[in-house]
Amino acid sequence: MPLAKTAADQRAIPISLLRPAAWAQFARTAPARLRNTAATVQFSAKAGQCLCLWDSQGRLERVVYGLGETGAMSVRGLPGRLPAGEYRIVEAPADFDDGQGALAWALGTYRFDRYKRESGEPPPRLAAGDGDDAAWTAVAKACAMARDMVNAPANDMGPSDIETIAAGLAKAHGAALSVTRGAALIEGYPAVHAVGRAATSKRAPRMIEMSWGKTNHPLIAVVGKGVVFDTGGLDLKPSAGMRWMKKDMGGAAHALALAQMIMASALPVRLCVLAPVVENAVAGDAMRPGDILASRKGLSIEVGNTDAEGRLVLADALTRAAELEPALTIDLATLTGAARVALGPDVVPFYTDDDGLAEDLAAASRAVEDPLWRMPMWAGYDPALDSDVADLKNDPDPWSQAGSVTAALFLKRFAPTGPWAHFDIFAWNARARPGWPQGAEAQAIRAVFAMLKARYR
Ligand code: BES
Ligand code: MN
Ligand code: ZN
Repeated sequence: MPLAKTAADQRAIPISLLRPAAWAQFARTAPARLRNTAATVQFSAKAGQCLCLWDSQGRLERVVYGLGETGAMSVRGLPGRLPAGEYRIVEAPADFDDGQGALAWALGTYRFDRYKRESGEPPPRLAAGDGDDAAWTAVAKACAMARDMVNAPANDMGPSDIETIAAGLAKAHGAALSVTRGAALIEGYPAVHAVGRAATSKRAPRMIEMSWGKTNHPLIAVVGKGVVFDTGGLDLKPSAGMRWMKKDMGGAAHALALAQMIMASALPVRLCVLAPVVENAVAGDAMRPGDILASRKGLSIEVGNTDAEGRLVLADALTRAAELEPALTIDLATLTGAARVALGPDVVPFYTDDDGLAEDLAAASRAVEDPLWRMPMWAGYDPALDSDVADLKNDPDPWSQAGSVTAALFLKRFAPTGPWAHFDIFAWNARARPGWPQGAEAQAIRAVFAMLKARYR
């Protein structure tokens, strides 16, 4: 339980976090005013129920918030229900994790209002506890950065904007940044160039590589799909499908955010972040259906569909990762619509052939309430990627159906042979709920970070 450190903390409005079982006990000893208010709104400490008790001067006196049977992450729904002010948690279940609660509060106060003339009243503040603040603030900041990047419109989040953010992050944490573009990109990352070359010169494709850490620490490669806007290319998306494709750089944003968590908390690992950053645009020199692309690995790729561009840029990035012989490779990508058909918007499918890694990820996912679900890298569908004219193709045969699985299998042809996990993220809240506003969402990286901490700390 966070203790009140200062006089200001002591004046903060007290919050009780209760599960339904504890509510009965709590109500018995609570003042009649609170009991009666609870009765009128049928409060029973179900997840997300919020009870505000006002004094006779009209000041908020105390707050009771229901956790239901959920964990600390449901505190995300609380700040949005409260007026501006200072709050502190005075009561919570015995198994409640203060750091996780503070993180949930921070994630729940996130707003994207930088394009609005008026930004509304400041979010309510949670008085700091006496726990390890640095641990959760790094995660909160990184998630906010990822969400800001994904929410930003494509006209303000082009390749150079992502490069600037990566450079700022590298500078802040003493990492090295190298950016490959132009002739060197054609030479070193031909598939990345092919996907991004139709964009205007100011939005030219590039490979961003950030390296950090001590040479004697194990190398973690983090790869993120950075398609700043996905029109679909010549296989143009219909309007509804294109509407939110500003978020198609979500993988790169997540990769940078995960790197920020790792660097800010000085995890004893070495990092290599690889972000192929491109715009999948329509122009005279756009790649065409039927084109056969070269790749960094040397495999030729037939472009059956210009809208399956993410796997093309990731192919070259994963090849680069493999060359570094990392101890572990993580990739994050808004790769397929099929991932949503399989698991919906909130649960992130992940793929790995490493059972130990899968178990560690599942455990971390539960611990930090960042929903992941392992999917099969089903080798039986691999022939769906065979091409008549090239080494493979980017649009799997329709018989294979499972679009997220076959996308993972495509990546596998380029990924390091060592431990590797691929996350097919959505990076988006499709519907608004208190604490989960419609728009960008950070997915999977809290779980991945928790897994890394458990393994390497
Ligand atoms: N960026 C999209 C996938 C996507 C769509 C993610 C909607 C989140 C929401 C990706 O580039 C794409 O278009 N994938 C195609 C692949 C197909 C052409 C083989 C898809 O999923 O339809
Ligand atoms: Mn696409
Ligand atoms: Zn895409």
